[in-house]
Amino acid sequence: MRLIVFTTLLPLSLLQFTLLLHIAEAEVYELCLGSTNYTAGSRYEENLNSLLQSLKADVPISRGFNATASGTSSPRVYGLAQCRGDTTTAKCRDCMYTSTTDAQQLCPNRKEAIFWYDDCLLRYSDSDFIGSITQNRLYLWNIYNATDPESFNKELAGLMRNLSSRAISDALLYASGNTVYDNFVTIHGLLQCTRDLDATECRRCLEGAIGDIPSCCDGRVGGRVLGGSCFLRYETYSFFTPSPPPPQATPNLPLPPPPSEDPRPAGKKILSVNMSLLDSLVIS
Ligand SMILES: *[C@@H]1O[C@H](CO)[C@@H](O)[C@H](O)[C@H]1NC(C)=O
Ligand SMILES: *[C@@H]1O[C@H](CO)[C@@H](O)[C@H](O)[C@H]1NC(C)=O
Ligand SMILES: *[C@@H]1O[C@H](CO)[C@@H](O)[C@H](O)[C@H]1NC(C)=O
Ligand SMILES: *[C@@H]1O[C@H](CO)[C@@H](O)[C@H](O)[C@H]1NC(C)=O
Ligand SMILES: *[C@@H]1O[C@H](CO)[C@@H](O)[C@H](O)[C@H]1NC(C)=O
Repeated sequence: MRLIVFTTLLPLSLLQFTLLLHIAEAEVYELCLGSTNYTAGSRYEENLNSLLQSLKADVPISRGFNATASGTSSPRVYGLAQCRGDTTTAKCRDCMYTSTTDAQQLCPNRKEAIFWYDDCLLRYSDSDFIGSITQNRLYLWNIYNATDPESFNKELAGLMRNLSSRAISDALLYASGNTVYDNFVTIHGLLQCTRDLDATECRRCLEGAIGDIPSCCDGRVGGRVLGGSCFLRYETYSFFTPSPPPPQATPNLPLPPPPSEDPRPAGKKILSVNMSLLDSLVIS
């Protein structure tokens, strides 16, 4: 860590890779919610299981999204799953398998939960959340700071604004792209809404998430605002499959480097509507 003091931005990003390269398994971040629990063997558990089975089967074949409720019998369980805009069908299938298999171990007996993986998002609840913006969110940030936070933030804000306006007119409500900061550092950004939202709601959700960046990750070289209805992430390394350039982009931008191992984010903060600060910890 002392090394940081002596490095410039370029070696710093290399340093990040070497220090954090060991993380390989599917990372998951979850929020276990709900004011009441279901009991083992209950009708709720049964309906949740069948909901998870149908999401697992439907999502990979329905262009990476499904939102549905289990059956018609009470108690109903509402669920939504979505694969990230740049995932392949195979990765989507893997992620749906992992998420639906692990959900009840990660949040035992919870009636409501949200799970964020790199390649997909899964959530369920006993109340009908489909089509409306959920406020629950989780922040993750890189421990490293930009050398010039003010200009970094400005460039990042411009990138996020651009991506946001592209996402709301995208069929998958998804956009990714990059911008060059300080002549040699590339900021890669990605955002997406869940596809139960319409464009207006998506814009509102993304504006909220972008507005959270200062409280989440001010001046950090990487950060994520993970919400139940939309999420964003930015890093100074590539972490997604680049999408074709938008029509207005210049064709001569340098190609981003191939995706590399994901360094584990440095910090985590959980926020939900009822509690402004549920948990705050630093993962080293
Ligand atoms: C639900 O179950 C979890 C895990 O067993 C427990 O931590 C939590 O307190 C329970 N919540 C309620 C409302 O009973
Ligand atoms: C979800 O999957 C079910 C079953 O395949 C299908 O009937 C429904 O239209 C799908 N919903 C969405 C929003 O894709
Ligand atoms: C980044 O800035 C924060 C807030 O000023 C500080 O607490 C943290 O130690 C800095 N991180 C590094 C790696 O210098
Ligand atoms: C945002 O888009 C405008 C118009 O296409 C472009 O001129 C600008 O460079 C972009 N800014 C960033 C930070 O991507
Ligand atoms: C707190 O959570 C409960 C259950 O999730 C929800 O019904 C209620 O509206 C929430 N309260 C606020 C102030 O959002």
